Amino acid sequence: MNDSAIQFARTLVEAARAAAGKPVIRTFFDEPTFTATHVVHDPATRRAAIIDSVQDFDQAAGRTSHGSADALVAYVREQDLTIDWLLETHAHADHLSDAPYLKQQLGGALVIGREIVTVQNVFADVFNEPASFKRDGSQFDRLMGDGEVFALGNLGAIALHVPGHTPACLAYVIGDAVFVGDTLFMPDYGSARADFPGGDARTLYRSVRRLMQMPDETRVFLCHDYKAAGRDTFVWETTIGAERADNVHVHDGISEDEFVAMREARDKTLGMPRLILPSIQVNIRAGHLPEPDDNGVSYLKLPLNLL
Ligand SMILES: [Fe+2]
Repeated sequence: MNDSAIQFARTLVEAARAAAGKPVIRTFFDEPTFTATHVVHDPATRRAAIIDSVQDFDQAAGRTSHGSADALVAYVREQDLTIDWLLETHAHADHLSDAPYLKQQLGGALVIGREIVTVQNVFADVFNEPASFKRDGSQFDRLMGDGEVFALGNLGAIALHVPGHTPACLAYVIGDAVFVGDTLFMPDYGSARADFPGGDARTLYRSVRRLMQMPDETRVFLCHDYKAAGRDTFVWETTIGAERADNVHVHDGISEDEFVAMREARDKTLGMPRLILPSIQVNIRAGHLPEPDDNGVSYLKLPLNLL
């Protein structure tokens, strides 16, 4: 198979390991939504990226706030980092992104996968969005496609398109680390659901197996952890080697058909995520609240008997 993006990603990991130029990664875990936000920096230049931030949301009160983001801002300032990138692995269905607030506080270009336009199209119909809602990804600063190369200071980086959980999912390889979003979870927990609109278990399997062509030593950082039976602490870091050996859903030796049968059966048992309706409406806007009504208040919609 001639997969030049994966080959390039492998060279990045090997180069970072050989040169001791590994990114420094500090993770902030949001327990209400089980989300891991990663602040990644190049120690040589102190250029940094924030991956998958969380906007605090009290659904009962309809109130948003920025306590989680402010903890990131304090860390970035204390470490004297310069934010070049605000990277989203996908349009999350379980928490609101706080990228616009972080951009205002710290700067950085807001990035998501090019296929976000597909996600915007599907959900703009679900929420009957007005014509003023653009379905072209223009709410973001940059849309990346598979194999798109970028830099974090002196560290090389590449985006990998890993659809399946959603059509727009990206994994970001930075130095010797890969940020896999919701493709993989810890080996003892398995994989993400593939039953949202545009999701597909077969596609997810292929994306995961593609990631597993990275070197075994590649550090893997997850977007979520939910603990697993018999495990008492939250963990968000593993390796490609550990995923290949032990991932309960998709370790080496599990065939595509076996995975698809397991994934589809399991997804039928899952309820909708608690925050899916608010999350999607905000995240297809890159983390912005909907345009206010003529009274100056933003509203979220609740489609009845549709999903
Ligand atoms: Fe997700």
